[in-house]
Amino acid sequence: TSAINERFHAAQKIIKDAAQLAKNMQPAPGKPTAELKGHQDYVTEADRAVETFLVKELSALFPDDAFLGEEYGATQSGAFRWVIDPIDGTSNYARGRNRWCISIGLMHHDTPVAGIIEAPTLRESFTARIGQGAFLNGTPIQASKTDKLREAMVEIGWSPYVPEGWYPQKMGALLTEGSMPRSLGSGALALADVACGRSDGYHEYVIFLWDVAAALVLLQEAGACVSPFLKNGGLTQRTPILACAPLIAPSLSKTLGVSLD
Ligand code: IPD
Repeated sequence: TSAINERFHAAQKIIKDAAQLAKNMQPAPGKPTAELKGHQDYVTEADRAVETFLVKELSALFPDDAFLGEEYGATQSGAFRWVIDPIDGTSNYARGRNRWCISIGLMHHDTPVAGIIEAPTLRESFTARIGQGAFLNGTPIQASKTDKLREAMVEIGWSPYVPEGWYPQKMGALLTEGSMPRSLGSGALALADVACGRSDGYHEYVIFLWDVAAALVLLQEAGACVSPFLKNGGLTQRTPILACAPLIAPSLSKTLGVSLD
């Protein structure tokens, strides 16, 4: 635990500087400067600058640790691995919108053990360590106690990887049950919302490890239900995810056709 705590405290400081860097580089509304990785799949200069900064700062303190980042991929192996999404919600970031974050997950031999999700333009910092609870700006958080889909707010993620017809089908299934739909463009923040009870569920067709590594610790510590993302292949490939409040887990999993086992 002391190795985890030491890394967590260092990352908490470093992520604040990274957040300032990202804020300074954010395009103004109406002046998007993103490049395209594919159809509606964006990357900005800031994604690369923030990842480079985080890897440099963290590896200076922990030279034996490994890294996995969205823009530059994986480095050497090591008992601890930092899993970094330098800007999650790049499509929002590039348009001058507020809803984006930096996500840093810490894994120990393929188990997520700590996570920080920093959203500077929302003035929010989500933090969690295994066995030590989950927090929003230092206040403990928990998944919601919502027990009916009719009273639930559920977010469905959209990415360029969803097959034609998938998104309207899932939205339709939710609307039929009387749930309130959302779709806000940052997987990491959508999962953090489930962890703090602001929403009751999040589902995405497939998502990468760097989008969810930090959130997996938050969700576990906040008592949310999560599909077995890592067991289903999430360590090495884009994998489906469903996270939700525990009392709607059976009904939501049935409605969306996603197993939680
Ligand atoms: C994306 C966002 C988006 C989600 C995608 C992610 P990025 O991450 O989280 O909401 O639907 O699956 O890849 O590209 O902004 O870091």
